[in-house]
Amino acid sequence: MRIVHISAECYPVAKAGGLGDVVGSLPRFQKESGHDTAVIMPMYRTPFLYKNEWEVVHKSNTNLGHWFFDYTIIRDRTSVLGFDLYLVDINGLLDREKVYGYNDDTERFCAFQIAVVHWINTWELLPDIVHVHDHHTGLIPFMMQHTYAFKRLEAIPSVLTIHNAQYQGSFGWEKTLYLPQWDSWKRGMLEWKGSINPLASGIKCAWKVTTVSHSYLDELKVSSNGLEDLFEYEKGKCSGILNGIDYKVWAPAHDPYLTEHFTIENAVKGKKNNKEILCSRFGLDPHKPLFVFIGRLVGEKGADLLPQVIIDSFEHIGRKMNFLILGSGESQTEDQLNSMKSISNNDYNVFIGYNEALSHSMYAGADFLLMPSRVEPCGLNQMYSMRYGTIPLVRKTGGLKDTVIDMGEKNGYGITFLHASVGDITHAIYRAVEVYEQKDVFRKMSKKIMDLDFSWDKSAGDYISLYNSFL
Ligand code: ADP
Ligand code: GLC
Repeated sequence: MRIVHISAECYPVAKAGGLGDVVGSLPRFQKESGHDTAVIMPMYRTPFLYKNEWEVVHKSNTNLGHWFFDYTIIRDRTSVLGFDLYLVDINGLLDREKVYGYNDDTERFCAFQIAVVHWINTWELLPDIVHVHDHHTGLIPFMMQHTYAFKRLEAIPSVLTIHNAQYQGSFGWEKTLYLPQWDSWKRGMLEWKGSINPLASGIKCAWKVTTVSHSYLDELKVSSNGLEDLFEYEKGKCSGILNGIDYKVWAPAHDPYLTEHFTIENAVKGKKNNKEILCSRFGLDPHKPLFVFIGRLVGEKGADLLPQVIIDSFEHIGRKMNFLILGSGESQTEDQLNSMKSISNNDYNVFIGYNEALSHSMYAGADFLLMPSRVEPCGLNQMYSMRYGTIPLVRKTGGLKDTVIDMGEKNGYGITFLHASVGDITHAIYRAVEVYEQKDVFRKMSKKIMDLDFSWDKSAGDYISLYNSFL
């Protein structure tokens, strides 16, 4: 099968979060199982660009409304990622250091999508499946079906995977000219609540829609930042497919970011060594349990609750544990977490920023991972942490609910709680400290989670079955 993924992120080319991890691993898995798989993404100015060799495969021009632009498609010559990688270069628009966060993101991603469809339309052999991810590529199914210039692509099945429905990329009708001329009877396929809504359009136009866990799909019907009715209406074509994780990248036995490698057999010693390195770097006490948080410091992740959780834990449970936070996001939370360094008694530290290497050291060296997310479509951190023998403490929501079973339940192995509240999280920490103090129970659980299977094996097969349903 000829599968084309189109995405704003793909690790290690460019990553802002889990979307990058998924698009960097699922296509490789598909390629390894015999499918002709490619990823098309914007050409940002990231280190990966300069470290690899590229060849120009296509040059052309098109327009975003009244603005005519040239675009170039380059291809990674080495196929180092295990699938064909194509980058779309639009001078001045996409070639920036960050993936998102610019005032003209609407223009950037509209132009990207138009260039991609414009290019695919020239292919002699068309793809069997076009698989788009999140709102940055959500207009592609519409363009393939309802714009006059791309009629040739109309019969290609498209799949939209929703990694996060909070972000929808809406923009006003005054920008309707951005899109290549389309059938005006189809206005409803672009619109949601008075705006052009790329995510909603993707849900309406894609042949099938998937979410990155089953529970998240159920939640979207009751809470999805305004799209609840649409999810209810389109439920017949929606399904949940849980993300897998890339066991080649996330492997404690040979992770290049670690100096101390370990397997299940020598996990106790291996984790202890990693913890000592981490604690000495951040001035923490390696004899106490180490709780970490890794992620975007935003409300969705419950990051705003962390300062009070840490204060309450020290006060009510006692100074029996360490906390180490890695993340960046809302400035108020960043400032609060930073200023709390003053209360540390060799038991608290924070690193504000994005640091891939440090995240790996933390998954390996921590005892527990905190994920008090208010919303978590899938969540990869809890699966990474389990691979590295670090016990997750998660709120029962979305993908967290689908991947972590509380230790109090049959065959359980983690700690779960119901509410994203300071009280519930602190209570979970209290339970974790108790587990840590029973060394046998703690070590057994840590080994058990390392042995769980969160690989792409099953989920990749579910995507192929979905594609096969069209063919
Ligand atoms: P989301 O995509 O919503 O941010 P996920 O759990 O799916 O959440 O994935 C987050 C990914 O980003 C993981 O690979 C995690 O390790 C990584 N990550 C998040 N914040 C940071 C950070 N500050 N430094 C390094 N890696 C980070
Ligand atoms: C999103 C979600 C996260 C998910 C990731 C990969 O960023 O917030 O829960 O794991 O996408 O699908």
